[in-house]
Amino acid sequence: MQQEKIDAIKSEIAATDAQNADELEAYRMKYISKKSVVGELFAEMRNIPNEEKKAYGQLINEVKVLAEEKFQVLIDKVNSSQKQSKTQDRDLTLPPTNVSVGGIHPLTATRQRIIEIFERIGFNLSEGPEIEDDWHNFTALNFPENHPAREMQDTFFIEKNPDIALRTHTSSVQVRVMENQKPPIRTLSPGRVYRNEAISARAHCIFHQVEGLYVDENVGFADLKNTLYHFAKEMFGKETKVRFRPSYFPFTEPSAEIDISCQLCGGSGCNVCKGSGWVEIGGSGMVDPNVLENCGIDSKKYTGFAFGMGIERIAMLKYQIKDLRLFTENDVRFLKQFRPML
Ligand code: DAH
Repeated sequence: MQQEKIDAIKSEIAATDAQNADELEAYRMKYISKKSVVGELFAEMRNIPNEEKKAYGQLINEVKVLAEEKFQVLIDKVNSSQKQSKTQDRDLTLPPTNVSVGGIHPLTATRQRIIEIFERIGFNLSEGPEIEDDWHNFTALNFPENHPAREMQDTFFIEKNPDIALRTHTSSVQVRVMENQKPPIRTLSPGRVYRNEAISARAHCIFHQVEGLYVDENVGFADLKNTLYHFAKEMFGKETKVRFRPSYFPFTEPSAEIDISCQLCGGSGCNVCKGSGWVEIGGSGMVDPNVLENCGIDSKKYTGFAFGMGIERIAMLKYQIKDLRLFTENDVRFLKQFRPML
């Protein structure tokens, strides 16, 4: 009985292999430690009749020696295979692998550049909420009660509360700044805006604008023109021309659309500018006195100019991107072409 058990353990030991430190440890627990099967054989000694003790002792000693010898063999084996794999892992003649680093998203780069240009001429940064109330998005900005921009086709309203909407432009931040600060005010408000539009190459329901506002004594239209003229040259290059086209916005009087000479053809006419040589980058004007008064600013003492530009629009012109949807598709083949603008 004992003999059979001992023989079984012996052949088990002979058949055991170890490839790594964990398997070595498992072997040690099973055949070497106090609680191992070999240890159990020794504990069994007290149940053996006296006359058999000597023979039994010899047998289990053999097992013990066998287990220890095998353990040493396995230790040597694992050690040498580790050494080998370490030297095999390192081929110092291999060229380094390419580390690919992320680029800056073109919209982020464009926004940063716009901020830089205006910060250098004394504009600070301001932000407002994307979920806005009717007062800040429309009423304070002098939108008449039945103005079409308030209607459902343009604005995402919050269900059950027509007073709350996703802001349709960053002009709402103008109102918030004027309500909370006294002139002189020179502020730039970049941010995300929402309109209920079908997504196409030229329009998206989520996009970005940057709003500018300058309110002080004696601010005139010449200041507006010069500021935007400076911006266009800094952003697009010295050769860029700027044109102001009379327009209408409820919150400015007079109002003007800002055009720059087409970046693609330099003004001679192509399909991007539809042959005109000019492309629109935003709207602007002198802040309507009603808007100043709505925000608690004395319109007899102060005047101001404001402008709003589309960041996607500017990025598209700067980088000659023809489809607005590329900005949000996260296709790395598109994104990896951009490096920060210097
Ligand atoms: N908020 C206008 C828009 O989204 C853009 C705009 C026009 C902003 C004239 C202005 C401005 O500040 O003076 O179309």
